[in-house]
Amino acid sequence: MSKQTVGHDKTQLASYTNLTHTLTSFIGRKKELAEVHQLLTQTRMLTLTGVGGCGKTRLARQVASELASAHSFDDGVWLVELAALNDPTLVPQAVAQTLKYEKLSISL
Ligand SMILES: Nc1ncnc2c1ncn2[C@@H]1O[C@H](COP(=O)(O)OP(=O)(O)O)[C@@H](O)[C@H]1O
Ligand SMILES: [Mg+2]
Repeated sequence: MSKQTVGHDKTQLASYTNLTHTLTSFIGRKKELAEVHQLLTQTRMLTLTGVGGCGKTRLARQVASELASAHSFDDGVWLVELAALNDPTLVPQAVAQTLKYEKLSISL
């Protein structure tokens, strides 16, 4: 069972990340972890692909947690849940809500 935290202090955490603790330990994937960390130094957008259940989301969340723990980005590390959206025009709003820019007007 992992007790890993994704930041230093709970009050700082809420304004730095919305990542929550996972209930199970992250296993293996050392090569993939290193590769994703490396690729994120070169690109602003990285897509993980693979068959359902192969661990894409878990790997992404693990990397995100590590980046949050290391305070790698000044503005934090945020998970935007898009799976429930069925209208692509709602994506900017979902991002804005997660980043707490509710009043921001974004048009596609
Ligand atoms: N490296 C890992 N360590 C521990 N559990 C894992 C790991 N990779 C995947 N899992 C678990 O396997 C299941 C499927 O992984 P998930 O990341 O949701 O797959 P995908 O996003 O590719 O469909 C989830 O319950 C996830 O927590
Ligand atoms: Mg997934």
